[in-house]
Amino acid sequence: MERTVTAPTQGARGTARPATAPPHPPTTTSHPQRIAIIGGGPGGLYAAALLKRLRPDRKITLWERNAPDDTFGFGVVLSDETLGGIEHADPAVYEALQQHFTRWDDIDIVHRNTRHTSGGHGFAALGRQQLLEILHARCRELGVELRFRTEAPYPAWLAETYDLVIAADGVHSTTREAYAQEFRPRLTTHRCRYLWLAADFAFDAFRFEIAETEHGVMQLHGYPYSADASTVIVEMREEVWRAAGFNESEPDTTSSSVDRCAKIFADALGGRPLRANKSTWTTFRTVVNDRWSHGNVVLLGDAAHTAHFSIGSGTKLAVEDALALAACLEERPTLAEALAAYEEERRPVVESTQRAARASLEWFENLPLYLDQPPRQFAFNLLTRSRRVTHDNLRLRDPHFTAAVEGEFGCPPATPPMFTPFRLRGLTLRNRVVVSPMDMYSATDGVPGDFHLVHLGARALGGAGLVMTEMVCVSAEGRITPGCAGLYTDQQAEAWQRIATFIHSQAPGTALGIQLGHSGRKGSTKLMWEGMDEPLAGDGNWPLVAASPIPYRPDSQTPHELTRTQLTTIREQFTAAARRAADASFDLLELHCAHGYLLSGFLSPLTNHRTDAYGGPLAARLRFPLEVFDAVREVWPDDRPMTVRISATDWADGGTTAEDAVGIARAFVAHGADAIDVSTGQVVGDERPEYGRSYQTPFADRIRHETGAPVIAVGAISSWDDVNSLILAGRTDLCALARPHLYDPNWTLHAAAEQEYEGPGVVWPVPYRAGSRRPRAGRTDAPKPRLTLNS
Ligand SMILES: Cc1cc2nc3c(=O)[nH]c(=O)nc-3n(C[C@H](O)[C@H](O)[C@H](O)COP(=O)(O)OP(=O)(O)OC[C@H]3O[C@@H](n4cnc5c(N)ncnc54)[C@H](O)[C@@H]3O)c2cc1C
Ligand SMILES: Cc1cc2nc3c(=O)[nH]c(=O)nc-3n(C[C@H](O)[C@H](O)[C@H](O)COP(=O)(O)O)c2cc1C
Repeated sequence: MERTVTAPTQGARGTARPATAPPHPPTTTSHPQRIAIIGGGPGGLYAAALLKRLRPDRKITLWERNAPDDTFGFGVVLSDETLGGIEHADPAVYEALQQHFTRWDDIDIVHRNTRHTSGGHGFAALGRQQLLEILHARCRELGVELRFRTEAPYPAWLAETYDLVIAADGVHSTTREAYAQEFRPRLTTHRCRYLWLAADFAFDAFRFEIAETEHGVMQLHGYPYSADASTVIVEMREEVWRAAGFNESEPDTTSSSVDRCAKIFADALGGRPLRANKSTWTTFRTVVNDRWSHGNVVLLGDAAHTAHFSIGSGTKLAVEDALALAACLEERPTLAEALAAYEEERRPVVESTQRAARASLEWFENLPLYLDQPPRQFAFNLLTRSRRVTHDNLRLRDPHFTAAVEGEFGCPPATPPMFTPFRLRGLTLRNRVVVSPMDMYSATDGVPGDFHLVHLGARALGGAGLVMTEMVCVSAEGRITPGCAGLYTDQQAEAWQRIATFIHSQAPGTALGIQLGHSGRKGSTKLMWEGMDEPLAGDGNWPLVAASPIPYRPDSQTPHELTRTQLTTIREQFTAAARRAADASFDLLELHCAHGYLLSGFLSPLTNHRTDAYGGPLAARLRFPLEVFDAVREVWPDDRPMTVRISATDWADGGTTAEDAVGIARAFVAHGADAIDVSTGQVVGDERPEYGRSYQTPFADRIRHETGAPVIAVGAISSWDDVNSLILAGRTDLCALARPHLYDPNWTLHAAAEQEYEGPGVVWPVPYRAGSRRPRAGRTDAPKPRLTLNS
């Protein structure tokens, strides 16, 4: 029998008492009969309704500290996918929701007196209170015990008393904190302040409006949720909020904040007032948990994860969690398996949403960077900020809008952005695709052979605007492995000349670039497939040099700190290689200052501990790489461009940051770099990169907008849709793709065929023209059903 009368309740919000007793080991059956739910938000209520509906003999008790008619926030947006899940799982809830939805298609972006509308998006929203009332009614109808105005008992007590405890207690979850050691939560606080408000009229679209005030940039996110009400969120950077004199201890309707926001966004609101509801200025927190369940306690919704409101996913994720948890509990034989399956199913979806949400929130944090973009490009940039909406799906949703953005960008008719030319000094690239440098570890004594001719030749025929060589080393000791190519002997120069001659004669529209580098402390290692970064065994090793005597890995050689004389020698090796590269008729030269190799090692504070003029603050750490850049620029022909590849972050504490990267890029640009090729990491062994689709692009984007210099984005850019989106949004000028070109040397030709593009941005080699269409798929000769005969 449940002992609710004596249940010890939790203290005030945020005062989590540690879990004194471990939660129950999971029961052997996954069909828990007695379920406790902490929190009556959308996640907890929907889980309660589903679980009770699936097994009416269950005893489900839900605690909610607020009254049933208390509500925080206003409208919630649900996607068609989520609604499909609800319709399938509980048509009664779906029917009730249907009656209250407000639907609309457009997104309006208002910026500097221009309004751009993108259509075809399909949103559905309703009041949060309405949603909660529907769920309250459904829970009551099904027999869930709802205890409003009641603090939930301690989770440890609940875990002992119930078969399953669902912690749906929101972003401030005290359950999560009580079991912090087990769930291992990580909370990241972001840089903007926002206020959640409402207006008593319905916007006719999702509205983003930018206000450039004397204190800084503020933005409004607004969307309708009923025939006469809209959610309005006002957001700005912390420093703008402070400069504007807003006050966090002054919430609610009486607050001057609300009136000031209404004045600032008077145009958007048509002069109407804004309304608060226990609204306070908040700083968004991203919640991540290493684990979502412990024993018989499971996290759900905001307690487990949050996603920034700008992609409107908090309620959607909570409802989807409830659907998945209920299904897993039905499907799996034990509670432990059910909770593991729930997490396994939901975690990838949640992580992908959180990545998109993070990109979106960072976009809004960095909004001032984009204000000067042409208005349509600004709108396109905003729409594609989370990378979930792309050029191709916007084209399907609203071809007129996309065509207008392309027109403003300068795309000739029927020309996707990726097939527009780009000029770097005297070199015009016919399209925006670059074959990223890739070491093939297949040279003999630094001499590129037939493999390189075929490898680079095939990719040049494959249609990219620019094909880069691998890192070509400026000395034998500067190689990474014995298989690395070099340009320090005449024989090597002749071999490169042969490759360049082939490419220039057989793939005349493709430019060929050389990447020059020196391995530094990452040299004298095995071929990639024999053990990446592993020191050579025994005799073959050669001594290493670097900015400072710090080994790359615990088992790596300790490099010698370079003396001034040695620095001069290495600089001269770079200029000698550059002269040979010019003679071999390379079109572009890239200086490799990334990935922890010699020049990169000077830039990072983690690998440069020098106390002379080449170490210390960034300006000093830049000194040697800039000296090399200047010396190479001096001998490299004037009309041929030079780019610099950098690691824009070390992904490690105390290392290069995105801000430093802007400084590094700015310095190279001031010395004459024509573009910055923006990679990241590989500088220290204990890095923690945040991988994901086009995950390095935000660094390129920032450098492009802060320095005004052209950039090359690289890293997990794999579809032509991504390339078009990144270029049209102004996040990059060129896109480098490495592994996709190993998968498909004809990547660019195929991108053209798939987009039915036939202009000058890419030309099929004459002997290949017969194959310039995707081969037809097999067809079935079975007769189609054509007649309907009435019986
Ligand atoms: C101020 C605010 C306004 C918002 N407005 C909107 C909006 O307009 N539209 C939108 O889409 N999203 C909005 N959100 C986000 C949205 O609330 C969440 O993403 C979504 O509701 C997640 O659902 P949930 O069930 O996980 O948590 P929540 O909806 O946060 O529900 C958690 C519930 O648990 C209760 N609770 C917590 N601890 C205890 C306890 N110990 N005992 C009893 N009860 C407890 C809380 O009172 C709360 O009702 C808002 C968030 C906030 C903070
Ligand atoms: C086999 C291989 C070799 C590479 N060699 C180099 C190199 O020599 N120089 C360099 O700057 N980057 C090198 N890279 C990194 C790529 O240029 C690119 O930055 C990285 O693979 C991310 O792009 P992707 O996701 O398109 O593969 C190499 C990558 C691969 C897969």
